[in-house]
Amino acid sequence: MSEETPYWLDDTVPETPQTDEYPAPWKTTTVIGTRVTRVDAYERVSGTAVYPHDVSLPDMLHGAILRCPHAHAKVLKIDTGKAEKMPGVRVVLTGDSPGADMGWYERRGTFYGRLFDPHCRHEGEEVVAVAAETLPQAFDAIRAIEVEYEVLPFVIDDEAALAPDAPAVHEGGNVVGKPSVRERGDLTAGFEQADFVIERTFRTPCEIHAPMEPHGSVARWDGNRLTVWDSTQGVFSVQQAMARVLGLPLANVRVIGHYMGGGFGAKLETGKYTVFAALMARMTGRPVKIFLPREDCFRVTGNRPGNTITIKIGVKNDGSLTAMDYKSLGSNGAYRYNASTSTMAVYLYTCPNIRAEDTTVYTNAGKARPMRGPGFPQCAWALEQVMDEIAQKLKIDPVDLRLKNIAEMAQYEDGVPLTSNHLAACLRKGAKEFGWAKARARTESDGHLRRGVGVAACFWGYAGGPPSTVIVKLFSDGSVNLNMGASDIGTGTKTWAAMIVAEELGVAVERMQIEHADTATTQYATSSGGSKTVPSDSPAVRAAAFAVKKQLLEMAAEELEVEESDLELHDLTISSRSNSEKKIEVSKLAKLDRQGVVIGTGYREPNPEGKFTWPYGAQFCEVEVNTRTGEVRLLRFLGAHDSGRVLNRLTYDNQLFGGIVMGVGFGMTEERVLDRQTGKMANANFHDYKIPTMMDVALSHQNAPIDRPDTEFNTTGTKGLGEPATIPTAAAIANAVCDAIGIRVTDTPLNPTQLVRLIAEQRKEA
Ligand code: MOS
Repeated sequence: MSEETPYWLDDTVPETPQTDEYPAPWKTTTVIGTRVTRVDAYERVSGTAVYPHDVSLPDMLHGAILRCPHAHAKVLKIDTGKAEKMPGVRVVLTGDSPGADMGWYERRGTFYGRLFDPHCRHEGEEVVAVAAETLPQAFDAIRAIEVEYEVLPFVIDDEAALAPDAPAVHEGGNVVGKPSVRERGDLTAGFEQADFVIERTFRTPCEIHAPMEPHGSVARWDGNRLTVWDSTQGVFSVQQAMARVLGLPLANVRVIGHYMGGGFGAKLETGKYTVFAALMARMTGRPVKIFLPREDCFRVTGNRPGNTITIKIGVKNDGSLTAMDYKSLGSNGAYRYNASTSTMAVYLYTCPNIRAEDTTVYTNAGKARPMRGPGFPQCAWALEQVMDEIAQKLKIDPVDLRLKNIAEMAQYEDGVPLTSNHLAACLRKGAKEFGWAKARARTESDGHLRRGVGVAACFWGYAGGPPSTVIVKLFSDGSVNLNMGASDIGTGTKTWAAMIVAEELGVAVERMQIEHADTATTQYATSSGGSKTVPSDSPAVRAAAFAVKKQLLEMAAEELEVEESDLELHDLTISSRSNSEKKIEVSKLAKLDRQGVVIGTGYREPNPEGKFTWPYGAQFCEVEVNTRTGEVRLLRFLGAHDSGRVLNRLTYDNQLFGGIVMGVGFGMTEERVLDRQTGKMANANFHDYKIPTMMDVALSHQNAPIDRPDTEFNTTGTKGLGEPATIPTAAAIANAVCDAIGIRVTDTPLNPTQLVRLIAEQRKEA
């Protein structure tokens, strides 16, 4: 390593040593890092994959939910008489039904209203549930229920909710908890040292997760045992929630989630519909299916909070940051979540003097949930545009400005080291492969089509860890059963897991069957979220395969009468390194034949103590802005991400592409619109709520993976990618637009409606 190379680019970091339980980091690999098609690709594209939405049981009833049509109201009276007598109706469930008068909880167990709360704090709160022989009968019954409401004044605007006379969403005011404050250094002194100060306010309206598969469940009782098929990111979390609210032992609740059509954080919580299905199934003795209509998914199953972010930043003429005053306001909707955004601002760049304040307010709107990189894309939209403005002002390359300010440590904690930080490599490799310098140096155009390029960087503040338990079974014919509890939320979890077993045991991916995401038959795993499924579970898969391999080598050593250390396993054949005569196929091992199966149990090793691990990334894009129409065409996008080792280059590329597409939606097309007159959502459908389509994504996509294993963090050297993939996208687009036409767009969505107005204002000023 040359002298200029900072230590965080040095590959020679300490490695997790091999122990009896944990294998040493891979040196070379033959399967890992290649492009492997998903093990369930055929099932997914042919329609034979059974998603929870497809589950249909004999004798199954269909449920529907009556929801409050007002933004804020009290239920005074419910008359279900007519509905109960309608054809096909088998049960009508209200808060007065046996077993339904219960408190409601969010996923970490804190109280949040009631299962049926007569105080409806947003449009779409649950009032009555019905189960009938057919879905149309259930919806007809819902329409026949008469509810008397006392309609209350509502507040849907974050700033208005702070006013002392604002309608109270909850008793005790609309500010959720105390605003959280993180401080470091001396802000006043920091601003005094600055050569100039920039202050800007940014707004990002509320975004909806909008997964393709709606939220829903099927519930069935067998005696006192409940089985639930749920479209979820974590079957064990649903098992825990259902056991808690129904007062059942965990062992009596089986939750299955083999496929699920998208979650993005919205499916980390258990829904009330799951409890309704279970209660109505118990009352009728028949399975009950409830899947929410699309409109309800928009209104009640979570969202990314909208935020208003003000950044005041002090800068020296050499580009170093001296002070940052960061303020964020956002709403979690009607129930407690967390709309904070400041984490990325506190950690990404070196700045000795920081004050970051996050305020979350209640409003009469659907509750927020974690959404792909919670808080980070909002922060990136603001912070990465301010960084761009600093570079413009100093006339230095925005890549160089970022390289200058990389935080080598967890600076807020005063220097807790990181196991790896390859942000510099993301910026350098990304710029090189994008052709950044050349693209920036293009000739100015004065026509109505203007090109520009932009860059933005990010990290993601989580990387996973224990617990995770995985079992690998190798049968006497050399075929393998891989057993893991994690949900594959569409990202290719099963595929990389099979690749790891193939790498360790030399069993072809096609020779494996995978059991996953079933609380009754698979091993405990945490929910698939936080970009941590790979770094949390892949080392456990590897340890399980390693445990199988050890037993096979022991058997072979005995049968071949050689030292175990002299043996190696390749393509299901064990051979001696020193004597080529000595070898045996795994299926010929006498002991394996007798015992039928070898079982290996793998556990996720602990994370290194006293260090943090985060993935990093930088994205580059080129846009063409039409100054007559305000349309922005995305010409090129490049993602350069440091996610540790790349397990499967194919699903890695897919993940990055999907994340960037989602970032395009956040930055350019998506916005929840609440009607100011009624407080109701005005665009709760895919026609009026615009998620990006193939017409909106960049014409060309390119990835430049950094692919440096973080072998100090875990035995597969992996970090996450799912959330970082979407964090810097919108800011990179805004920076490219500013490069093209000199307009800084501070509010999302950056759409033609807004841009035409800004271009007109720019002309007026000129
Ligand atoms: Mo994610 S927001 O952890 O699914």
